[in-house]
Amino acid sequence: MIVRPLVDKDRIIHELDTLAGFSDTPKPAITRILFTKPDLGARAYLKGLCEEAGLRVREDGLGNIFARWEGSAPELPAVATGSHFDAIPYAGMYDGTVGVLGGLEAIRALQRSGFKPYRSIELLIFTAEEPTRFGIGCLGSRALAGVLNPESLRLLKDQEGKSLEEVRWEAGYMGRLEDVQLPEGYYAAFVELHIEQGPVLEQEHVPLGIVTAIAAPASLRVGLEGVGGHAGAMLMPDRHDALCAAAEIILGVEAFAKNSGSINTVATTGFCEVYPNAVNSVPSRVKLEIDVRDVEQSRRDQVIRNIIQGVEQVCTRREIKYSVDIINIDPPAKSGSEVLKALVEACGDAGVKFKLMVSRAYHDSLFMARIAPTAMLFIPCREGVSHRPDEYASPEDIALGTYVLALTLAKLSLAEGRGSGKEEPMMLSD
Ligand code: GLV
Ligand code: MN
Ligand code: MN
Repeated sequence: MIVRPLVDKDRIIHELDTLAGFSDTPKPAITRILFTKPDLGARAYLKGLCEEAGLRVREDGLGNIFARWEGSAPELPAVATGSHFDAIPYAGMYDGTVGVLGGLEAIRALQRSGFKPYRSIELLIFTAEEPTRFGIGCLGSRALAGVLNPESLRLLKDQEGKSLEEVRWEAGYMGRLEDVQLPEGYYAAFVELHIEQGPVLEQEHVPLGIVTAIAAPASLRVGLEGVGGHAGAMLMPDRHDALCAAAEIILGVEAFAKNSGSINTVATTGFCEVYPNAVNSVPSRVKLEIDVRDVEQSRRDQVIRNIIQGVEQVCTRREIKYSVDIINIDPPAKSGSEVLKALVEACGDAGVKFKLMVSRAYHDSLFMARIAPTAMLFIPCREGVSHRPDEYASPEDIALGTYVLALTLAKLSLAEGRGSGKEEPMMLSD
């Protein structure tokens, strides 16, 4: 069957721009944090678009949104696509949203072309891929995959001490958390369209990337407690300054990653909270959050051990009390071979070049890969910039990614069998 999806480039660009208006910071800086006013506004906008496209919309108790285009075999596991629409503070307008609106436009493009799905095609819009509010990334997809259970979800608190239970109820999400995990075999395949968030495609002039594996992310929270006091009166030999200890730890984090022996190890201390945070007061308490990733899990874990040892040594020497909590320590994900095959064939049908690559950023696909054969499609973004207001992907690249996504969804929708997703995937050496 020849499928020619009709992508409306102007429409998707207009919708991306409208979605960017739901933000706590003015465009082009986007801040959209779970269950805040912009998040709720964006949800209403997206659900409206899905309903307009004739999709059947449902939401779970965490706010994951499912919009289904029913196929002629609705009893079979569906094929899904989607991404997230939350944005870290002062982010750009393409991270996640390209996969949400691109996924919706791929469905509409298939509808316009007269395609009739066999397996249902579902757009999945995830709750909170970013860790901003509750400190843990991929909240929605973790819960869908059963990696985060209802008891753990109930323990989560935001910076202000508000529980996830409280904020989701306030936002109108009262469904049972026990019902969030998807049943075994719910999806036949999952494919996520996303900006690359790195420079490779642009530098190599390749229009599309097919992701064979996603790097293993982990994050740690370090609490430091020293002795505060008057910045003028407290003599230097008497000090146990928590921020000075933090400074040594932060430099250690950088050094351990740099010296891991591989360019694929990255570590970042992206969060630092100082108490009392006043110029004339010796810092008594510091909270750090550290992000460590690698495509090779054992090397990532070695860096984590080094960081923990480093914290111990610095704090013992400086007589500072400390705690280290591992927030998450996830394995990498490998793509499902049948989804990779569909993506490769779709690129062939579209006559476009692609590159097989790994994703260094994490995505909801990291968790979807645990419950369904999964792969991702990357489009270039300018200079590889992401998580910044100047993040940019061209309308042409967005439209091409959407077109190839639509072809891929069509192939997966028509596929008879459901693989285990456990076959050897195409791999890249690191
Ligand atoms: C997702 O945004 C990540 O931090 O990789
Ligand atoms: Mn992001
Ligand atoms: Mn993202």
